[in-house]
Amino acid sequence: MTRDSEGIKATQYAAITGWGSCMPPAVLSNNDLSTFLDTSDEWIITRTGMKERRISHVSATEMATLAAKRALACAGLNPTDLDLVIYGGVSNEELCPNSASGVQFSLGASNAASMDLNTACTSFCYGLAAATAMIQAGQVRNAVVIGVELISRYMDWTNRNVAVLFGDGAAAVVLEATDQEEGLLASVLGCDAEARHTLRVRGFGCSYSGYGITLGDTFWDFDGQQIFKRAVLGMSRASSEVLNRSALTADDISLVIPHQANLRIIESVAKHTGIPMERVMLTVEKYGNMSAATVPVALVEALSEGRIEPNSWILMPAFGGGLTYCSLLVKWGDRVTPLGESPDELPPCTESALELVNRVRGNQDPHGRSKDGLLSPTFPEMRS
Ligand code: ACO
Repeated sequence: MTRDSEGIKATQYAAITGWGSCMPPAVLSNNDLSTFLDTSDEWIITRTGMKERRISHVSATEMATLAAKRALACAGLNPTDLDLVIYGGVSNEELCPNSASGVQFSLGASNAASMDLNTACTSFCYGLAAATAMIQAGQVRNAVVIGVELISRYMDWTNRNVAVLFGDGAAAVVLEATDQEEGLLASVLGCDAEARHTLRVRGFGCSYSGYGITLGDTFWDFDGQQIFKRAVLGMSRASSEVLNRSALTADDISLVIPHQANLRIIESVAKHTGIPMERVMLTVEKYGNMSAATVPVALVEALSEGRIEPNSWILMPAFGGGLTYCSLLVKWGDRVTPLGESPDELPPCTESALELVNRVRGNQDPHGRSKDGLLSPTFPEMRS
């Protein structure tokens, strides 16, 4: 489909034609975490399924840009052909200007509209749904949708309840208008806002700015068991609903690519949905929870491992802070191999993951992170 004098025409579908990831090389093991937290390799593996995660030595924009470059090369598209950049995630360099404009500039995608989308861990999936709808409406011809996180920079590294769970990373897909019946064909998006207080990162935003808190000095409210239950419920119900709406059954799904917050959550969702674990893509062991980057990174790995067949059905259930949840049903197209490759790489990393984390820990103010400090007397207690 091309832009002509009548503008961009509406189309029926948005095919996924490019994909690429950017994983920072520094690996933080469970044993590294136990050098400064009261935790153990055994506890983390048995409770979460995680063995290691990545810590980035570059900015979130750099990771996002490289992932997008790789996705564009895979699709055989020039940056100047791009109509839309969606930056999905909770890791922004600044609130203004937005991060998507930084990626647009670094890519040289000078014709692209650029927007950030934050629904926490579901940001990439919500972004995929939004971009697909914009292509179907004829507003844009194509889009790059990115899921990216640099959580290591604002993690509360004194809190073992959360510090062991997260990692950094990025991945992106390119969507293009097509008349072929493929791409995102059905989705269920929702939000269990009654439980939004169960996951809150205190220290960011207008509730705190102007009160002397240094950005990055955070305190996390985190009710792991509540999130666990509601995540299983939200992802399972959304998956059943999206299958019902499409008149498909679990047997039609070739691969589930779920959000990877905890191996036990994934196993429960697979069981509720009636899909055996052999048909579930797992990255939680080596990358932990990368929030918005998790689903697209797993998608890229599934393609490079040859786990996605041409014209197969893929289910993508996810949940995140808010508590947002979703399940996406994607029909893959004919092509499962890249058209091209980007020659670009990240700059070399000269520090270990533990050194990178220790640098952040050394710069965090222990007083700024105390719950008392963030709740009183200057900080309004958040009730909802
Ligand atoms: N190391 C060692 N012990 C720990 C650790 C740790 N890192 N963290 C907690 N413990 C202790 C607790 O203090 C508790 O001790 P106690 O029994 O003496 O009180 C014990 O381990 C058990 O704690 P639980 O919270 O009951 O452990 P649970 O089995 O529920 O697992 C977990 C905790 C892994 C956080 C789980 O609840 C979970 O995965 N929840 C969902 C988390 C999630 O998905 N987060 C992401 C949300 S959205 C997004 O992706 C951004």
